[in-house]
Amino acid sequence: MANKAVGIDIGGTGIKGAIVDVETGELVTDRIKKSTPKGGEPDDIVGVVKEILDELGDDARDLHVGVCFPAAIMDGKTLSAANVSKKWIDFEAEKLFESTLGRAIHFVNDADAAGYAEARYGAAKGVDGLVIMTTLGTGIGTALINDGVLIVNAELGHLEIDGKDYETKASFAAKERDELSWKHWAKRLQKYYSRLEALLYPKLIVVGGGVSKQYHEFLPLLSLRAEIVPAKLRNNAGIMGAAALAAESQPEF
Ligand code: BGC
Repeated sequence: MANKAVGIDIGGTGIKGAIVDVETGELVTDRIKKSTPKGGEPDDIVGVVKEILDELGDDARDLHVGVCFPAAIMDGKTLSAANVSKKWIDFEAEKLFESTLGRAIHFVNDADAAGYAEARYGAAKGVDGLVIMTTLGTGIGTALINDGVLIVNAELGHLEIDGKDYETKASFAAKERDELSWKHWAKRLQKYYSRLEALLYPKLIVVGGGVSKQYHEFLPLLSLRAEIVPAKLRNNAGIMGAAALAAESQPEF
């Protein structure tokens, strides 16, 4: 496995990238951040990723490139689009990126990347058994890691509770939209994590997303069987995980 790779994290508001030492998870360059183009369409996004790779320069030229994106992904195809342009549904994302950028690209789900990074380098490092990563942002992203092995494309943010796709009730965006206090939001989180726990029995739940910085406001209000902890890698987890997963993949180009 190569010991350095490029990680790119595509989100609804920003696109970030850096070169990562995949042995340690450390970023070996500054993180480059650009705004996500309005509408979030594939052609515009690949243009921004090209700018980031160009800015990373010669050091990035021969490295594997991992890109994480908020959709279920199979064989390089984005299959869903919960909070992004519908053009990504059933879209050959890897092919578009490879032909535009002229190099092999490894596409992964954003929560899978973040969860894998937390398992390799962060809050779930060395934990045996089932770990569930959840990212609380615009939506709810989830990743399952069992004994360090990632089980891809868990879309458990969309668990249906009370007849609702529950990311629309318990994400951080829902807290802001409904102007919920921490206590009120924690009630919804309790419902969500209890259901998750009833279905999967994780040993550890890791909570990421920007709001996890304020974990002391809401994690102590939750009562769960599993241990629940804040993510450690904060907003670099996607970059680190995308890079690590790309370095471990066998690119065919
Ligand atoms: C998407 C997931 C994504 C999550 C976090 C959800 O709405 O369905 O694929 O991981 O948001 O971005």
